[in-house]
This record gives sequence, C-alpha cells and structure tokens, in this order.
Amino acid sequence: MKRLKLGVLASGRGSNFQSIIDSVESGYLNVEIRLLITDNPNAFAIERAKKHGIEYLVITPGTFSSKDEYFKGIAMELKNREVGLVVLAGFMRIVRKPLIDAFSNKIMNIHPAILPSFPGLHGQKQANDYGVKISGCTVHFVDEGMDTGPIIIQAAVPVSEEDTEDTLSERILKYEHRIYPVAIKLFSEGRIEVAGRKVKIKGTVFNGEGIINPPLPG
Ligand code: GAR
Repeated sequence: MKRLKLGVLASGRGSNFQSIIDSVESGYLNVEIRLLITDNPNAFAIERAKKHGIEYLVITPGTFSSKDEYFKGIAMELKNREVGLVVLAGFMRIVRKPLIDAFSNKIMNIHPAILPSFPGLHGQKQANDYGVKISGCTVHFVDEGMDTGPIIIQAAVPVSEEDTEDTLSERILKYEHRIYPVAIKLFSEGRIEVAGRKVKIKGTVFNGEGIINPPLPG
C-alpha cells in the first residue's frame, strides 16, 4: 500500500512537528512527511525540517491578493505533492474555505484544551484563569469554525492550584506529543470514520477508564 503523505503547517517552535518526525523515525508512524509549510520565516520548525531532510516552503499571506487566495495557494502546493493528510501543528491562522474544501476531513489540528472549552488563542491560560481542575488537549478535524470540527482524540491533564500558564502549558504539551501521532496513525490505517460531528474509531474498545480517550492502541 502507498504510504500516506503528510503536509505539516506550523508557525513557530514546532515541537509537535518534532513529535511527528520522531514517530516516523522510530517506526511508530508508517507515513511520509512530504512537506512543511510555514507562514513565519523565523519559525524554528524550519530548522527541524532542515535537520531531517524535509522539504519546506515559507508562504506568507502578504504576497496574495486575499486570504482565500493564500489558502488556495497552500492547497495547490499540497495537492501537487499528493499530500493525503494536512496536519496543523501550532499553525496560528484560521484556515479558510479553499483549503478546507480541498482536504475535506483531511485536515487535523491540535488544540491545548479540552474542546469545546477554551477555543482560540491561549487555551492553557484561559483554562488556568477560569480555575478548572482538569484541562488537556484535543486533536480534531478542521472545519470553518474556530476549533469546532469533529473531535478525534483527547487527553485530560490535571491543573494544580500553583500552576501558571507556563507550567500548565508544559504539562499539556507532553500529552500533545503523545496524542497527535496516535491520531495520525489511526488516520493512516484507515481507522477513522466521520459521521456528522462524531468520529468513530474502528477497533478501539471503550473501557470506561483512562485519561486518553480513545485508549491508545497497544
Ligand atoms: C501547541 O501547544 C499547540 O497546541 C498550540 O500551539 C502550540 C504550538 O507548539 N496551538 C494552538 O493554540 C492552536 N490554536 P509547537 O509549535 O511547539 O508545536
């Protein structure tokens, strides 16, 4: 079977990008990271791409006539390389219709909160300020809303009374790095089915326990 090709979009540090690279290099993921696209010429994600021999493009919106044209341009680069799954890894822009339509239910995002709570920017700060006792992270498909698409997998992470935005972010990030490769693996194995808002994952057994749902495949 042909290996799934990933296109990763990142704006910054790229630690989630790195967790995907590591998962490919360790053999956990049987996919090809075909391309990194960034909107930020200074993104550290670029260094990661260079180090691992991954093609990268810096595409900034400034050179396009509109936001829709920008995302049309991105979609074209991804299609030209036969990308089958687009992975947003700290991509700090709202994806527009031309890209969403070109990759329907084939764009994933990771968000640092348990959606639908605390969407948008600074999910960790929002959760900490609100005073919740449990937060976490979510991988979901991308639709036209802000962090509103069908949820694939979530991890719950406890919040301490002593937490700052930074300490909570760090705790959640460790789980981001665990669940994103799982979601990509499930997709690459054809185990994800989307029915309306709901994502059904073939072959997982609900055990009523656990912090990460669905339970991680063995
Ligand atoms: C991650 O915490 C990710 O969940 C968040 O940005 C960070 C990127 O870190 N994304 C969002 O807030 C999207 N709304 P990384 O560049 O090290 O992967």
